[in-house]
Amino acid sequence: MNKLIVSLLLTVGISGIAHAAGDATAGQAKAAVCGACHGPDGNSMAPNFPKLAGQGERYLNKQLHDIKSGKRTVLEMTGLLTNLSDQDLADISAYFASQKGSVGAADPKVVARGEALFRGGDLAKGLPACTGCHSPDGKGNAAAGFPHLGGQHAQYVGKQLTDFRKEEGGRTNDGDTKPMQSIAKKLSDEDIAAVSSYIQGLH
Ligand code: HEC
Ligand code: HEC
Repeated sequence: MNKLIVSLLLTVGISGIAHAAGDATAGQAKAAVCGACHGPDGNSMAPNFPKLAGQGERYLNKQLHDIKSGKRTVLEMTGLLTNLSDQDLADISAYFASQKGSVGAADPKVVARGEALFRGGDLAKGLPACTGCHSPDGKGNAAAGFPHLGGQHAQYVGKQLTDFRKEEGGRTNDGDTKPMQSIAKKLSDEDIAAVSSYIQGLH
């Protein structure tokens, strides 16, 4: 099937959840407390704090609802979202989505393996290419809620893939079809290190 049609079908299929529209200008002031870890414009300096700048608005909003409700555990953010309304979360998501994301560099020693995995998957293991959902340039699919990965800190990406892979106590908020949990279970530690490093330099 034509790639465009596939992506249109995916978009139509899962865009059923409606959230309040966010206001980026109102969101900037509400996001002041977040800047300490994520950077004032969402480009965090520390490799364990994810960059939020340029991330898709829908994905950000979903994560904030999941973190607030405890569906996704982020200990560092305990209590921070308790007093924020749905409108606040939508505004903050719109603000970070409107910022420009910075890009890092990949480790030349593993970049070839990382690129092969990202672009081609691994047929023998039944692993799909990451590009199918996260797009060839790593920008994801904002409308569908598939996150932007390009330029994200390798350490953070590696931790997410390891958390998705865990049998217990990991990250389980990837929806009913659990695409990331089933994909991560097919990745070795070496695969995770290589693809995470590749993603850090991808733009
Ligand atoms: C004390 C540091 C800290 C503060 C303050 C903080 N965060 Fe976080 N945040 C984190 C960490 C650490 C993670 C990633 C946890 C993990 O590894 O899964 C995270 C994850 C996130 C994610 C998920 C990103 C992704 O790519 O999935 C979002 C969205 C987010 N934070 C938004 C916010 C917002 C909005 C605020 C302010 C209201 C905020 N954070 C304040 C530390 C912080
Ligand atoms: C079938 C679609 C699909 C494929 C293929 C896919 N992903 Fe994902 N990925 C998703 C979705 C959807 C999410 C968001 C889950 C959520 O809402 O929490 C995600 C989330 C992620 C995250 C977390 C992002 C963040 O900011 O926390 C990482 C890292 C990731 N994927 C890496 C990969 C890698 C590496 C591959 C290839 C080996 C891959 N994905 C293949 C759909 C996919």
